[in-house]
Amino acid sequence: MHKDLESIVLDKDQIAAKVADAAAWLDKKFAGTTPLAISVLKGSVMFFCDLVRAMETPVQIDFMTVSSYGTGSKSTGVPKIVMDLAASVEGRDVVLVEDIVDSGNTLVRMRDLIMGRGAKSFTVVSLFDKPSRRVVDVKADYSCFEIGDEFIVGYGLDYAQQYRTLPYVGILKRSVYEK
Ligand code: IMP
Ligand code: MG
Repeated sequence: MHKDLESIVLDKDQIAAKVADAAAWLDKKFAGTTPLAISVLKGSVMFFCDLVRAMETPVQIDFMTVSSYGTGSKSTGVPKIVMDLAASVEGRDVVLVEDIVDSGNTLVRMRDLIMGRGAKSFTVVSLFDKPSRRVVDVKADYSCFEIGDEFIVGYGLDYAQQYRTLPYVGILKRSVYEK
């Protein structure tokens, strides 16, 4: 385990099991269609790549970079689109893949944007859910794992752009960000 972590939340095998369950849920829901899966970068990148490869349903993929943090551990509340999608979502069944739903601000922003562009449907799959921190009333359609008010890193999730490449997810020691 990385020295800056307090404990592991999901190890490699636990992540793989969560990914398989989420892929099976999506396969059932989207059988016979070709949804457009969108990775909300950068946090969801690892989960996204594993998830779309675990699915049997063919999906097309696209990417959007959204930033809400600057460098700290608290969201600024105003998600900014740093890089937009390459393709149109008009008439598409969109599957938005998120790392974590925290305040919910990002999700609302993405939903309004994508539905506003004429998507046929909007489904959210998130690896983590932090319901105690929600400020807007939204929820992923499928969420793999619920956590309390802890700051977690690894498997795509960062603190100040660090720890994203850890192959597991752990709770960051408070001493790292409360200096
Ligand atoms: P929101 O507050 O729901 O808009 O979430 C914004 C983004 O904050 C998420 O997509 C994550 O990228 C990031 N975030 C929220 N909680 C954590 C955490 O515990 N660790 C790392 N990133 C987080
Ligand atoms: Mg994110």
